[in-house]
Amino acid sequence: MKINIIYWSGTGNTQAMAELIRDGAAAAGAEVSLAEVSAVASADAALDADVVALGCPSMGAEVLEESEFEPFVVSIEGKVGGKKLALFGSYGWGDGEWMRDWSARMEKAGAVLVAESLIVNETPEGEAVQQCKNFGAAIAG
Ligand SMILES: Cc1cc2nc3c(=O)[nH]c(=O)nc-3n(C[C@H](O)[C@H](O)[C@H](O)COP(=O)(O)O)c2cc1C
Repeated sequence: MKINIIYWSGTGNTQAMAELIRDGAAAAGAEVSLAEVSAVASADAALDADVVALGCPSMGAEVLEESEFEPFVVSIEGKVGGKKLALFGSYGWGDGEWMRDWSARMEKAGAVLVAESLIVNETPEGEAVQQCKNFGAAIAG
């Protein structure tokens, strides 16, 4: 079972989530690769895994980060039919609208979301730490 985790993070919160998710998935026995979206070579390379977990915080006004992550999502959008994805990200003052929109968008593109999309307010701490690890274990299962 191979999992690619690909994320964008401006101030480290979504990165912290990504690392906890990696820990949870690895502890569940998955082979996990973790990369910032800027390091992804191609859409095909990004999707070359059994499950692809994508992380991006709420930016702009309830949208994905626009200079790197949004173009990446556009690049995979035509290729995710039947693909197993899992979405996560950190947010600040909103109610998670960006994640609801992003989840619906990926399902409309034909992706199968293998876990309920995970949102964490700012830095993962307290029970959010375990939620991220559990999310990693769940997508590895
Ligand atoms: C430019 C900018 C726009 C943001 N827009 C939103 C927003 O629309 N809704 C929200 O809930 N949080 C918003 N936030 C807060 C971030 O989502 C939040 O701080 C998050 O933890 C950042 O994650 P990161 O550390 O991975 O970059 C915004 C932050 C910045 C810097």
